[in-house]
Amino acid sequence: MTERLATDPAGIARAADLLRVGALVAFGTETVYGLGADATDARAVAAVFAAKGRPHFNPLICHYPEVDAAFAHVEPNPAALRLAAAFWPGPLTLVLPRRKQCPVALLASAGLDTLAVRVPAHPVAQALLRAVGRPVAAPSANPSGRISPTTAAHVLAGLDGRIAAVLDSGPCAVGIESTVLDLSRPVPFLLRPGGVTREAIMQVVGPLHSGITQEQSAARTLRSPGLLISHYAPALPVRLAATSVASDEALLAFGPPLPGAGAEYQLSVGEDLAEAAARLFDGLRALDAAGARLGLAGIAAMPVPSAGLGLAINDRLSRAAAPR
Ligand code: TXA
Ligand code: MG
Repeated sequence: MTERLATDPAGIARAADLLRVGALVAFGTETVYGLGADATDARAVAAVFAAKGRPHFNPLICHYPEVDAAFAHVEPNPAALRLAAAFWPGPLTLVLPRRKQCPVALLASAGLDTLAVRVPAHPVAQALLRAVGRPVAAPSANPSGRISPTTAAHVLAGLDGRIAAVLDSGPCAVGIESTVLDLSRPVPFLLRPGGVTREAIMQVVGPLHSGITQEQSAARTLRSPGLLISHYAPALPVRLAATSVASDEALLAFGPPLPGAGAEYQLSVGEDLAEAAARLFDGLRALDAAGARLGLAGIAAMPVPSAGLGLAINDRLSRAAAPR
């Protein structure tokens, strides 16, 4: 049985105790729910891979309550220091060289000489990390390849009975995962667009390499093996950039909806990208459920502009639509 914990002091203390004895606890952050484990405990880290069915070559992000704690385990360069000052705590993950004395289990970084570190902004996540007093490795709390969870109910839909507890901090405000930036090379490399926009990062560190061309996308997958193309997969096939919709399709709407869909989920009627990002994963889940109930053939997603958070939204949508 998976315990449901409230975010009162008793619930946070219970979650921290479970993590400290090597159990798995899902917890909310501002981006998505993470499946937490004591990152210094190789057995606990191995249990995360097992619970998610995650391939062992796909490394995990380590979470810290503050900047100094993160940089005690990796070597920051000037760009990392500037980005941390600008965006931490917040939805940004930095990939940096592991320090020699870094106590994080090698399995967490999948044998790479780098480690992904993040300082989340959510106050409950912060309180939990402080109470644990150790780095917490946490991938998104979904079975591997499925849609990331933005509520405790989403977590339980995928992992109930497979994890010790979920700390329920309500829906996640950003709703899309952190931006992952590789700073271990001379030019910063955008491995995954996310909650901090590419534009905002470029204002701090200048030009980035990013995986938007096909060639760069292949390079990105090699350098961050978790970024397999098919991911975020709903049960129904997804059709991108829909300009019309059939009656046997479910519509993922952005702005004034196309007429005639068999079911509909509105991401943001006013075409607000932050609202759309926060609702994206719930929308894919809701349309999947509606599709199963009504016997629909697929999901038609209306186009979303690629500026700002739209880059991360379109990244997730194209992965949801990729061949499996
Ligand atoms: O918002 C988020 O980032 C959430 C919350 C829970 O913090 N976590 C999350 O974790 O999305 P996950 O495991 O679903 O995605 C982490 C991504 C993967 O694509 C992984 O391959 C990449 O980060 N990654 C982790 N460590 C890496 C490393 N050392 N080098 C390159 N990529 C790395
Ligand atoms: Mg994930």
